[in-house]
Amino acid sequence: MSADSRSQAAGAGLTGLVAWIKAVFRLPNDDPRKTLAVALVLCLACSMVVSATAVSLRPLQERKAALALKSEIVKVAGLGSAEVGLDAAFAQIETRLVDLDSGSFVEGVDVLSYSYRDAAKDSSASTALDDADPAGLSRRPDRMPVYLVRDAGQLETIILPIYGAGLWSTMHGLLALAPDGRTVKSLTFYEQRETAGLGSEVAGESWLSEWPGKVLLDASGEPVIEVVKGTVDASAANAQHRVDGLSGATLTSNGVTNLMRFWLGPQGYGPFLATVSGRERG
Ligand SMILES: Cc1cc2nc3c(=O)[nH]c(=O)nc-3n(C[C@H](O)[C@H](O)[C@H](O)COP(=O)(O)O)c2cc1C
Repeated sequence: MSADSRSQAAGAGLTGLVAWIKAVFRLPNDDPRKTLAVALVLCLACSMVVSATAVSLRPLQERKAALALKSEIVKVAGLGSAEVGLDAAFAQIETRLVDLDSGSFVEGVDVLSYSYRDAAKDSSASTALDDADPAGLSRRPDRMPVYLVRDAGQLETIILPIYGAGLWSTMHGLLALAPDGRTVKSLTFYEQRETAGLGSEVAGESWLSEWPGKVLLDASGEPVIEVVKGTVDASAANAQHRVDGLSGATLTSNGVTNLMRFWLGPQGYGPFLATVSGRERG
């Protein structure tokens, strides 16, 4: 079809629509066809407004989410303060991309624009977890960002994004480890939709404050951390590998155990942690 005949067809379509609208408006007000037509036009107009608003707000939402994540990373790194601005604090953190299978850094990729959430939906950038999927991910991104804090070149903190299924939602968090790659310095869950007052306590200061000092791996590098039901017996030999369960929220607590074990294991950051802690020791 030529450009001329296309514009003629569009013109004819528009004329037909205008004629239809005029005919509808000539109908008496109590005619059900008029009621239906007005409702239809209103629905169409509203859906167009909602779609246009959603599309135009998306970049703003993405910028806000990126800023919020930056702020969480700075907080978990222990670098946040009123005196130092967010950008200045974040600039002290080295952001790298890690290939999870090899545990080595990926060079030449803009890490700040890499999204592990997008990668998890892309079959060419993620791996299906058919057999063993304790964290309920379905697919594991092949690459993950990591954030490193150094002092005079010496590694001080390793920050790992972690996520996995709770009872109702996927819980996204950041785990800050000491350079040994096994001892917790800090933990946060910055996105979750567990029940307020029950599972949502996973993001509460009180529960998160139990984590610093906990040792996530055993001597052989196996993830052994466990959120127990009830309270940890502080005198038990394995107390350093155990965290009190969330009261009335055992399923969310189990979700944390599962996602921790997955991300610290061989399909998660295991190879990277072995490399980075070994390298620093050497
Ligand atoms: C409305 C409602 C919301 C709940 N939300 C959660 C939740 O967010 N996380 C959770 O682990 N359990 C939640 N539970 C409780 C679980 O169904 C389950 O009973 C609980 O995890 C068992 O933990 P407990 O053995 O410590 O009581 C909820 C229960 C109800 C009725």
